[in-house]
Amino acid sequence: MANNILLLSLVALSFGLLAYAFEPSPLQDFCVADTTSSARVNGQVCKNPNSVGANDFSFSGLHLPGNTSNPNGSRVTPVSVIQLAGLNTLGISMVRIDYAPWGINPPHTHPRATEILTVIEGSLEVGFVTSNPDNRLITKTLQKGDVFVFPIGLVHFQRNVGTVNAIAIAALSSQNPGVITIANAVFGSKPDVSGDVLAKAFQVDKSVVGQLQAKF
Ligand SMILES: *[C@@H]1O[C@H](CO)[C@@H](O)[C@H](O)[C@H]1NC(C)=O
Ligand SMILES: *[C@@H]1O[C@H](CO)[C@@H](O)[C@H](O)[C@H]1NC(C)=O
Repeated sequence: MANNILLLSLVALSFGLLAYAFEPSPLQDFCVADTTSSARVNGQVCKNPNSVGANDFSFSGLHLPGNTSNPNGSRVTPVSVIQLAGLNTLGISMVRIDYAPWGINPPHTHPRATEILTVIEGSLEVGFVTSNPDNRLITKTLQKGDVFVFPIGLVHFQRNVGTVNAIAIAALSSQNPGVITIANAVFGSKPDVSGDVLAKAFQVDKSVVGQLQAKF
C-alpha cells in the first residue's frame, strides 16, 4: 500500500515536471498575438477572436532563399510568433536555413525548444553535444530527405558539406525557441565578460581572448 502511494506520487510528480518543462497547453482554440498590446504576459496577449482571419494563421516567403553572404555562410529565416501571430500559445514554430557551400550554422542552443530538421537540398554534417560530464558529440552526415532531431537545450550545429547550396526546413517545439549562439554569447556579450574569466575558462592567454572578443 505504502509502495503504491509512493509510486503514484512519483508518477504525479513526473507529470507535474513535464508540464513545467514544456509550453503550457492552450485554454482556448487559439490566441492570435495582439502585437499592439503593451500588456506584459508570458507569451503574447490574445487578439479579439472576432477580428481574427486566415492571414493571422499564415506566412508567405519560405520559398525565397536567404542571403548567405556573411561570415557564417548561412541564413536562418524564422517563422516564429513574431512573423506568424497565430502561433501564440501553440508551442511550435519553423525555420528555413540556407547554406552556401561549406557554410555553417554555428554552435548554438535553443533554450525553449527541441528541433527536428530535414534536408530539402544538398548534404549537411550535423551534430549536437551532450551535457556534462560526457560532452559526447553525436554527429551524422545527412542527405536530401534525411531528418535529424536536436534535443532541447543542447549545443548543436550544421555545416554544408556539398559543393552546391543546401536548404533545410526545421520545426521547433516553441512559439519562440530563442537562440544562444555560443561564440556571440561568450565573446560578444555587452559589456564584455572579463578577459581574466574567459582566459581561465578556456585555458588560453588573455590576448587570445581579446582577439576573439574583437571578432564578435
Ligand atoms: C546579400 O548580403 C550582402 C552582404 O550584406 C549584400 O552585399 C548583398 O547585396 C545581398 N544580396 C542580396 C541579393 O540581397
Ligand atoms: C553567425 O550566425 C549567428 C546566428 O545567426 C549570428 O548570431 C552571428 O552573428 C553570425 N556570426 C557572424 C560572424 O556573422
